Amino acid sequence: MRISVPKETRPGERRVALVPESCKKLVQAGYEVAVEAGAGASAYFADQAYQDAGAIIVADAAQVFGSADFLAMVNAPGTGEAGRPDEASWIRSGTVLLASLMPLRTPAAMQVLAERGVTAFSTDAIPRISRAQAMDTLSSMANIAGYKGVLLAAAHLNKYFPMFMTAAGMVPPAKVFVIGAAVAGLQAIATARRLGANVTATDVRPEVKEQIESVGGKYVGIELAQSAVAGGGYAKELSKEDQARQRELLVEQCGLVDAVITTALIGGVFAPTLITAEMVGRMRPGSVIVDLAADGGGNCELSKPGEVVTEGGVTIVAPLNLAASVPTHASLLFSRNLTAFITAFTKEKSFALDLADEIQAGALIAHGGEIRHQRTRDALQPAATH
Ligand code: NAI
Repeated sequence: MRISVPKETRPGERRVALVPESCKKLVQAGYEVAVEAGAGASAYFADQAYQDAGAIIVADAAQVFGSADFLAMVNAPGTGEAGRPDEASWIRSGTVLLASLMPLRTPAAMQVLAERGVTAFSTDAIPRISRAQAMDTLSSMANIAGYKGVLLAAAHLNKYFPMFMTAAGMVPPAKVFVIGAAVAGLQAIATARRLGANVTATDVRPEVKEQIESVGGKYVGIELAQSAVAGGGYAKELSKEDQARQRELLVEQCGLVDAVITTALIGGVFAPTLITAEMVGRMRPGSVIVDLAADGGGNCELSKPGEVVTEGGVTIVAPLNLAASVPTHASLLFSRNLTAFITAFTKEKSFALDLADEIQAGALIAHGGEIRHQRTRDALQPAATH
């Protein structure tokens, strides 16, 4: 069975789905692995390293897609939109695709894959059960975003992060406020602490208080009138009443700090607007917001996804696909996640479809010409509510 690894064509993408270390593992498990020439170049994995790992290098992209039994990708294949090639049209019916498809953000592209007869699995839909932890690309990438987001905040801030005792006197540490304390937020807290900042953090799921404290942050929060806990560790949108109460907390905290890092998502997909333009107006000139939820639309009303803007002396950084800015380690971890998925279902040197399995059933987006993922189906309805 041939596993193919195309070169990613999403603008700004620098990751590759499988690194040589994983190719070696998959070759040992009995697969043939074909890698598009230059697929790993932006992440500093050379074609020669893939060949040394037992993979073959294929120059032509259409051939990489068309000769695959199983496609390992970072992003969904291009469908001829946004200046990308129509990669989906090169895929043979019956091919299995494994990628971080983000189906709810691009449901129309999922429809195209279904119509091509692709069996598409999305790593971001894998159920959050312990057996699937090693396959979880969302966590791997969120960890990187949390780390890099703090570095961006420090780079844009007009101050030191750590406290310094100098011959010219003491410099106090920067104050950082983290909104949303799941994988990205906890890593942001830990990284800001390692850089010496004082860190406060908030979330709407009550269990995070201890987790914030365990990585050196101070929890601040409100008592919610209605629980915001959804299944699988995800949060729901707050009630109007709770939103108003949270706004007071956010105004106060944002006004006290030098840097705000936001990571809040609803259902793991869409970003609620938490920091309004008015709140930004009440922040200290010179302070920085790093909006790590920019891929989901952004937590700050003034964020311009993919840009850095300044409003009233406050710098708002809204990076897109931040994991791709740490391409070597992002690729390494992503690749290990995909390899854990593939090897968990390898039987007699082939990937075995088992749609009764909880992991495969949860991750399945398209199969047999149809969208099989309920939330993606809902998103394709014109009157869909998210
Ligand atoms: P996420 O990316 O969906 O959301 C980020 C955070 O934003 C969440 O903590 C959420 O509660 C928070 N949030 C939403 N609305 C907010 C608001 N109005 N104000 C403040 N915060 C708000 O979260 P992620 O990283 O996907 O993780 C969610 C949970 O799932 C975590 O507890 C994590 O440890 C757990 N998890 C479990 C896995 C497993 O068992 N395999 C794998 C990955 C995560």
